[in-house]
Amino acid sequence: MKYKKQDKFIINGGNKLFGEISIQSSKNASLPLLSACLLTTEKVTLQNLPDILDIHNMLSIMRKLGVKIKKEGNNHQIDSLNASCKQIDCKLSKTMRSSLFFLGSMLSRFKSAMLTMPGGCKIGERPIDMHISSFKKLNVKIDYFNDYIYFDAQHAKPNKIKLKIPSVGATENILQFACLLKGKTTIINPAKEPEVVDLANFLNSMGAKILGAGTNKITIYGVNSLHGVAYTPIGDRIVAGTIMVAVAMCGGKVIIKNGVPEQNAKLIEILSKLGCKIKIKYDIIELSKDDALLPIGKIETAYYPGFPTDLQSVMLALSTITAGKTRIIENIFENRFLTVKELKKMGANINCVSSNEIEVVGVTHLHPATVVAEDLRGGASLVLAALATKGQTVVKNAHFIDRGYDHFEDVLTQLNLNIRRQ
Ligand code: UD1
Repeated sequence: MKYKKQDKFIINGGNKLFGEISIQSSKNASLPLLSACLLTTEKVTLQNLPDILDIHNMLSIMRKLGVKIKKEGNNHQIDSLNASCKQIDCKLSKTMRSSLFFLGSMLSRFKSAMLTMPGGCKIGERPIDMHISSFKKLNVKIDYFNDYIYFDAQHAKPNKIKLKIPSVGATENILQFACLLKGKTTIINPAKEPEVVDLANFLNSMGAKILGAGTNKITIYGVNSLHGVAYTPIGDRIVAGTIMVAVAMCGGKVIIKNGVPEQNAKLIEILSKLGCKIKIKYDIIELSKDDALLPIGKIETAYYPGFPTDLQSVMLALSTITAGKTRIIENIFENRFLTVKELKKMGANINCVSSNEIEVVGVTHLHPATVVAEDLRGGASLVLAALATKGQTVVKNAHFIDRGYDHFEDVLTQLNLNIRRQ
């Protein structure tokens, strides 16, 4: 991937989408699979990793830990045999919250780890208290000094962990740590997201014994070691959802392969109700939109299988040009309306009701402007708003979008849209 920090997207909106697209592998599934590679000294092959910034940063962190990574065609061969227990690169961990995933695998492998507070999109406070309290429950000793947190797992023991919130990251960290911890660990109220299930499937294919991923209780029976494997992460439901919403906003007809329809059931239900025509066959979604959409009414984010917070921003973009009033309630993160002020620059009519609720009154069309992406999914929503708007819009800070969308401008160009990077 070649990109510059100052890149922007120049978009001439007004085209409809036509064509066929195969969806990239999931960012949120691929990231914990990479950190979990540290759990074995054998080689692991990960197939079709997405070519996105977050994966590049994750691979850089791993190289600094002594992991050898070879890329052959679409495969990454990961060899963690000579990995060593160092502190995770500070600068890189500040850029991405997923550096936190190394905690579970490093602690399991080396029995100690050191961390600075991780970064990521500024969509909320994003504390790590549940990660800390879960490790404490497993008898990991934790100390704080200056900006660092020290973990000592010499005397770790299995236990029953009850999560107060079904946190994706905390569940994934416990899975990685407990699969090699002798005895039985249970997680009550774990995250049920498909990416958690994919991590459990990956670990099980390496010899782990994890039962119940995707349900309200996960049981992990610790095994002695894990072995190498070749594995392909699931398709990216958020990228598939973004393309579906793009069709809903711009019109046209698109065939989406590897679109994981069952994981996007909520979005498909909503778009169908609005008047999009959707056909599903296996993992292929055919979606078309000809006529004006019906009013949306209300969108409320929730933990899986509820409506995903990661698609809230693109639904916000859709609601700006859909007739009637839309209430959007964000229940997962407290700062996920960063794009509101940018969409307003394009003429959107949005009112803040409270810190986690907005009301959008649809306008007949937005107008072009220069707007600035401030987070990954919000950035994608600005691109969609621009694609649906006649005239030239500039979306600055393309690097936020590059964190999760694999060559976004090429994908959209392939679908008959007019977008280029500058
Ligand atoms: C993951 C996804 C992100 C998605 C989110 C929710 C990855 C790399 N990122 O993020 O795209 O939007 O799930 O589906 O997979 N919380 C605490 N204490 C903690 C941990 C979390 O209070 O220790 C809170 C968070 O602030 C948030 C909620 O729990 O309000 C859910 O967060 P979590 O599920 O952990 O999200 P992430 O794993 O960070």
